Amino acid sequence: MVAIRYEHIKTCRQSGARLGKVHTPHGTFETPIFMPVGTLATVKTMSPEELKEIGSQIILSNTYHLWLRPGHDIVKEAGGLHKFMNWDRPILTDSGGFQVFSLSALRKIEEEGVHFRNHLSGEKLFLSPEGAMEIQNALGSDIMMAFDECPPYPATYEYMLKSVERTSRWAERCLEGHKRPEDQGLFGIVQGGEYEDLRKKSAEDLVSLDFPGYAVGGLSVGEPKDVMNRVLEFTTPHLPHDKPRYLMGVGSPDALIDGTIRGIDMFDCVLPTRIARNGTCMTSSGRLVVRNAKYAKDYRPLDEKCDCHVCKNYTRAYIRHLVKCDETFGFRLTSYHNLYFLLKLMEQVREAIRQDRLLDFKEEFFEMYGLNKP
Ligand code: GUN
Ligand code: ZN
Repeated sequence: MVAIRYEHIKTCRQSGARLGKVHTPHGTFETPIFMPVGTLATVKTMSPEELKEIGSQIILSNTYHLWLRPGHDIVKEAGGLHKFMNWDRPILTDSGGFQVFSLSALRKIEEEGVHFRNHLSGEKLFLSPEGAMEIQNALGSDIMMAFDECPPYPATYEYMLKSVERTSRWAERCLEGHKRPEDQGLFGIVQGGEYEDLRKKSAEDLVSLDFPGYAVGGLSVGEPKDVMNRVLEFTTPHLPHDKPRYLMGVGSPDALIDGTIRGIDMFDCVLPTRIARNGTCMTSSGRLVVRNAKYAKDYRPLDEKCDCHVCKNYTRAYIRHLVKCDETFGFRLTSYHNLYFLLKLMEQVREAIRQDRLLDFKEEFFEMYGLNKP
């Protein structure tokens, strides 16, 4: 029994992008897909019912955060993460590798694992590949991620080589430590920064271990867009065609399209929900900062081309008022719309692949979104 199976449907004849489906123990999701982020077992401000209403097929959650609060033992006792949070569709959990590096000061990386401090209490903690597997096995996510090192950008070649070698050794330990392969799939994470030969080495090391899926990590860490695109161009050709590929931490509309064109199937990012909570909305003509004074008497929807529940029922003026007053309902409305916008965008991307016209779609979308300006 394999927990995760990729079904390839077609390759876009114009762009080379992939259209497929991923089958998991909690159902199937279509690819390419965007996964809303539910760090603490909730996609901030959104109920599971609302997530379904806008068409979320899979969500992401975090090992590190659930380990600290409420503790994976409690989630396990509650019947696993799906039951705990009342979400019966697929869940992917990140391993904690990245969060240890991005949230915690004073970390020390050793062969055994990483020593660091709890970002809330300052308490000393230690996370290892085995620990990350134990926690994710307790959470019961459909897709678990290997415990990796996500080095900063830029990093020297010498540092990156050592890091890639360690991440490969950790990946083997993750496979060893994973105790539920029959109902949880474990993905490997390709690192290697901007170095072509290290990305190739990392991909080959992991592919030889035969994971049911692969992620490209270490991107969207401050590098320019063209660097990310180039890294994807020389990395995805080393990944197997019959397994899903996941680009971690990427969720701007242009990067979703550019990543898909370079052979990526899955994406996640806090961007839509994070910017929503400071009053920024994604619309078909670009970003709209609804706090702006010019929307005080604007009785149009956030996006006139959007058919989401928010755009059908609420005005910019009303949402601006709520957001300016820090009213929770305002953040619910902007979060709902932004997630709807990205999920709809990926639906349009899938349709464009079906019709072999993803490059044309990209041109049209970039033009409307204001991304073709110099
Ligand atoms: N999220 C964004 N980038 C990364 C990465 O490189 N590794 C992990 N584990 N999570 C990520
Ligand atoms: Zn809308």
